[in-house]
Amino acid sequence: MINSKRDKLKYKSIKGTKDILPDESYIWIEVENRIRNIMHTYNYKEIRTPIFEETKLFARGIGEFTDIVGKEMYTFVDRGGDSLTLKPELTASVIRAYIQHNLGEKQPLTKVYYISPAFRQERPQAGRLRQFHQFGAEAIGSKYPIVDAEIISLSSKIYESFGIKNYKIKINSVGCEVCRNEYKTILKKFLFEISDKLSPESQKRINVNPMRILDSKDEDDIKATKDAPLILNYLCDDCKNHFNQLEELLNFLDIKFEVDGRIVRGLDYYTKTAFEIISTELGSQDALAGGGRYDLLIKELGGKDTPAVGFAAGMERLLMVLQKQNQNKFQAPKPKVFIAYTDQSFEKITFNLAHKLRSNGISCEFDFLKRSLKSQMREANRQNSDYVIVIGEEEINSNWLQVKNMRTGEIQKVGIENLENYFLGLDE
Ligand code: HAM
Repeated sequence: MINSKRDKLKYKSIKGTKDILPDESYIWIEVENRIRNIMHTYNYKEIRTPIFEETKLFARGIGEFTDIVGKEMYTFVDRGGDSLTLKPELTASVIRAYIQHNLGEKQPLTKVYYISPAFRQERPQAGRLRQFHQFGAEAIGSKYPIVDAEIISLSSKIYESFGIKNYKIKINSVGCEVCRNEYKTILKKFLFEISDKLSPESQKRINVNPMRILDSKDEDDIKATKDAPLILNYLCDDCKNHFNQLEELLNFLDIKFEVDGRIVRGLDYYTKTAFEIISTELGSQDALAGGGRYDLLIKELGGKDTPAVGFAAGMERLLMVLQKQNQNKFQAPKPKVFIAYTDQSFEKITFNLAHKLRSNGISCEFDFLKRSLKSQMREANRQNSDYVIVIGEEEINSNWLQVKNMRTGEIQKVGIENLENYFLGLDE
């Protein structure tokens, strides 16, 4: 039924995109405000980058052989013949801006955050959209594990502040250029030996991206790689040290985490720390957030050799969990006052009164559809306003209004000239 109605629509939103309607947008605003506050508590400042960038920024930054670059980017050639891409994630854009504006020269440790749409042409399903929203943070300029610990503490603090339960922090190290290459040779050898047991997708990956096979969700892959060598056992001293220090710091802050040697992430830029925050309530798309260290990316994109670490999280997934755990107890905005009138001749006076209240910052609504008083009262109810005033002959002649508190039923007589002061003086 719903589908056939949808099919008849002349225009509809693109598959995998979602309208955020007025009965939901206030939740987004509240959640975003809370995230901003926490980011500011940790002294991260907001950065906003354009919605599209040169395609090669992402190809280079995220990696040619990743799923994102290989098959998920919204890439188009503009009228000037340039290949552009809607940003599939934020880190590459943030680093481009960091290099372009010499942010590192102004501040040796640059701490930025973002809340932004991102675009990936994935198969839409619960928790997976083609236009989705990420919030995240990047700390650029320090190689020390204490910044990794701060990023993990910041990301988990956000979930904690919303009262979210049943999430897990999983950490791993993906090593550096040296130890990872050695490990990859060992892993490839193992994978070739069991290749006939792997899914066709993973068989194709053995040469180009063998580590991704370890976090495959395919049952056959999981079974076949049960005894695969894990990178944690092959880290060089520097990477091992970094990882041990991170564990120590997280323990010191009493942040609960699990070490999971199969966290490899879907983007190529990671070095050393990689982590994910998983919710047990999200079904197959269970990653609330992911991040890690990317010490080589800034140089790779043309900047100075600068270490960095960050994370990004899906807004829609956070909202899904909030919904499931009944934690979205946000107040929908509503007018404080609804002014009804008994006769059309009072419409202008009502408009003027509303104008005065609004000019004083008091939210106010009245009827625009020339409805009967009964319908106006119904509307006042629907709007759930705190107070209702009815303007009639008597009120206009006497200059006194009756202000009804809809919660208590109490009625106050207020002089018409004094109306805004009455509301401004309310102690609520
Ligand atoms: P990512 O793991 O690709 O990492 O994405 C981060 C989060 O974005 C995921 O954990 C998920 O919650 C959300 N997400 C990703 N794709 C979708 C989708 N199609 N629909 C809905 N939500 C989605 C990054 O993007 C890295 N830039 C993170 C990072 C920042 N690493 C270092 N700094």
